[in-house]
Amino acid sequence: MSKYIAAIDQGTTSTRCILFDRQGNIVSVGQKEHEQIYPKPGWVEHNPDEIWKNTLEVIALARIKVSVTSADIAAVGITNQRETTVAWNRRTGKAYHNALVWQDTRTGDMVAQFEKDGGIDRFRPVTGLPLATYFSGLKLRWLLQNVPGLRKDAEKGEALFGNMDTFLIWNLTGGVKGGIHVTDVTNASRTQLMNLHTLEWDEDMLRTFEIPRAMLPAIKSSSEVYGTVTSEVLPGVPIAGALGDQHAALVGQACFEPGMAKNTYGTGCFLVMNTGSELRISEKGLLTTIAYKFGDQPVQYALEGSIAIAGALVQWVRDNLGIIEKSSDIEPLAQTVEDNGGAYFVPAFSGLYAPYWRNDARGVIAGLTRYVTKGHIARAVLEATAYQTVDVVNAMEQDSGIKLASLRVDGGMVANQMLMQFQADMLDTTVVAPAVAETTALGAAYAAGLAVGYWADLADLRKNWAVAQTWEPVMESPQRDALYKGWQKAITKSFGWEE
Ligand code: G3P
Repeated sequence: MSKYIAAIDQGTTSTRCILFDRQGNIVSVGQKEHEQIYPKPGWVEHNPDEIWKNTLEVIALARIKVSVTSADIAAVGITNQRETTVAWNRRTGKAYHNALVWQDTRTGDMVAQFEKDGGIDRFRPVTGLPLATYFSGLKLRWLLQNVPGLRKDAEKGEALFGNMDTFLIWNLTGGVKGGIHVTDVTNASRTQLMNLHTLEWDEDMLRTFEIPRAMLPAIKSSSEVYGTVTSEVLPGVPIAGALGDQHAALVGQACFEPGMAKNTYGTGCFLVMNTGSELRISEKGLLTTIAYKFGDQPVQYALEGSIAIAGALVQWVRDNLGIIEKSSDIEPLAQTVEDNGGAYFVPAFSGLYAPYWRNDARGVIAGLTRYVTKGHIARAVLEATAYQTVDVVNAMEQDSGIKLASLRVDGGMVANQMLMQFQADMLDTTVVAPAVAETTALGAAYAAGLAVGYWADLADLRKNWAVAQTWEPVMESPQRDALYKGWQKAITKSFGWEE
């Protein structure tokens, strides 16, 4: 019997392959970063060829470290940065353009145009999503309008569309020699092209955004065998699961009951609450999305609060301001001061996502006096992630009518003790980190493992979840209220920069 499940996590900044054992322990990791391409302010691209090469490399790396063969691996699960959009040619395998990354704001004009005719929420009842630059549908429309020849090829079925899950599965299963063109329901739910009720591409959305049906992948569940790897890094291994990364983290955190929620602190920050088989259209600025669908079991829905910039702000401070050398320096720098000194940093670099959905917002640092030092700025940078999470939790509690008993957290920023304590304080809620911190990859492994019988059922997965650390709130209400009031004032200063 095979010993491991492989998960490929194709994220915004890097691609990883992680091998897991039956207890959900990490056995081996291969990781490689890829280039972030910024051709103009607000534009963000990735080179799909580079990502594909990195994927092969990280699989080989993970395997070599523990010398396993294909026979040791029962299945592969894929998880990925969502919404990032690529179009490629079925016969050459070449991409028509760099991938347009989820953070890219070049479709701002289209958003404004569509908004004029029916408002920002006109597509919510069908897609669960507001009009925003974030989702794939308008990015694909931009490619079709701006890349010569693409529309013609798309109409003939020569050009294919995919998010990174689809692109990798197609390449891993043979590419130009018969690659399989599929996506899973969670990724499809982020295109703004899928009908959340029927789980099929929505003809009205396709007509409105002028997307040729022939270029779209088949929509599958998140846990079933889509095909078999032909690449020599893992020949013959079934690809048996795919989930957008935030949905995968929900699964990796074993949030299988309605009302359970997780928050992942990565490039951005994404809070997702399982709402069970009930589809709720948000009234408070959250997204309605698919939590997961395992094989032919009923689909599970979720509410999501997406925050575009969290860890990315720390990277920006490191790379663009240069006041720290490495990301982990932010915490000691923030600890040189008692508090934020009155400074707030609203990182609206890609507009503001949930619950505001303001494409016109841009970043601001507010509340500056001559008293403020780089220590206060470092503190404001970390606090920004916590305040943005409070905004989302408030919306989530109002929308769902459920008070969060505790918040399960994961992602790179969880290592930051000051941030996690501040998060517990600002939410006035216990914050809990699990023993296996790599919940995103673990969720993809779970989806694949369930499909091939490596794990029997959800009970098997729940058993693997254990607490590593908790943070309890200690801050008094008046202080919490005063800090949050400052944040709310700062937020309003970020509006109206982009017409
Ligand atoms: O929606 C975007 C999200 O899926 C990206 O996640 O972890 O790659 O920043 P991450």
